Amino acid sequence: MKTKESVKNKLSGKVINEIKVKMPSLSVNEGMARSVVAAFCARLDPSAAEIADIKCAVSEAVTNCIVHAYKDTIGVIYINVKLCENRLVRVEIKDRGCGIEDVKTARQPLFTTDAANERSGMGFTVMESFCDAVRVRSAAGKGTTVTLFKFFEER
Ligand SMILES: Nc1ncnc2c1ncn2[C@@H]1O[C@H](COP(=O)(O)OP(=O)(O)O)[C@@H](O)[C@H]1O
Ligand SMILES: [Mg+2]
Repeated sequence: MKTKESVKNKLSGKVINEIKVKMPSLSVNEGMARSVVAAFCARLDPSAAEIADIKCAVSEAVTNCIVHAYKDTIGVIYINVKLCENRLVRVEIKDRGCGIEDVKTARQPLFTTDAANERSGMGFTVMESFCDAVRVRSAAGKGTTVTLFKFFEER
């Protein structure tokens, strides 16, 4: 059983492999980003469910860069994927967009600043439910970094 504490203690392990990609915040690149992360994870021989989970979480984070961070503009999305000890995959998704005023509120289920476009406000909740931990660092006017942590089961 993974408790929050036992997960937290393992989040900073030695890095075994790493890739960095950056792409403009075009909506076509949402699919690109999740495929790149899935390809990186493939050597762990993941289950179909694990791959679906990480793709879904990456998708939410990258979509947020496209639709919120760079709302009326096109900016750069930086993605850094690391394989760490204990089969931990860390996916850092960074933008230099508008930033988040209040991260705690933004992370609440159903909270959205874009109800006009029928956003569900469930992006962060989805990331949290499909990963073992999610870290959000943001500064208004400067940008946001979301880090997804996922342990892949021993095969
Ligand atoms: N990268 C980001 N840059 C700026 N604001 C963001 C970013 N990611 C999330 N947000 C803010 O957090 C809110 C909640 O995000 P989320 O849970 O994905 O719901 P939704 O995208 O449906 O609004 C968004 O409405 C937005 O205000
Ligand atoms: Mg969202």
